[in-house]
Amino acid sequence: MEINNMNKESEKLYKILFICLGNICRSPAANAVMQKMVDDAGLSARFLIDSAGIGNWHVGELPDKRMRNHGFKRGYQVNHIARQFDARTDFEAFDYIIVMDEDNYKNINRMSQSDKEKKQVIRMIDYITEHPEATSVPDPYYGEGKDFDYALDLIEDGCRGLLQRLCESESTPNSL
Ligand code: 4NP
Repeated sequence: MEINNMNKESEKLYKILFICLGNICRSPAANAVMQKMVDDAGLSARFLIDSAGIGNWHVGELPDKRMRNHGFKRGYQVNHIARQFDARTDFEAFDYIIVMDEDNYKNINRMSQSDKEKKQVIRMIDYITEHPEATSVPDPYYGEGKDFDYALDLIEDGCRGLLQRLCESESTPNSL
């Protein structure tokens, strides 16, 4: 199904929270990439997109300058202010909690209180279709420029896949 076939007038709001460890590299980038894809598709009113970190070290900070710069070169405004995931409110506030790697998955799952909450936690890799070598979105924080570019490649791939899957779920509910 074409992304543009998603019903722009429908009442259903997709609430998506991207998660990584520090909330200054991968998840704010995913936040910006997904927002731009949704905006470009004319679907802004159908989505609420945010991001958060497992840790609290960078709360209140702008994203890492390297991710801001690499994102900017691709046309993304990576300018989310870091915050920490809050299990008391975020499971309720969001439908889909999309994690970047397996450590994130374990950490968020540990904080879930029900089967419903467990089902909300989804790996970004599950939406990545063009990088068969990848098993997660690796942390670029201790890496170099190429690691930030690779993280963005995977994030773009995953966001495209996620949006596509949500479009398909409009005709086949619960197929995500
Ligand atoms: P992120 O990268 O999880 O993609 O935001 C990291 C940023 C900072 C740290 C770890 C990962 N840190 O340990 O400060």
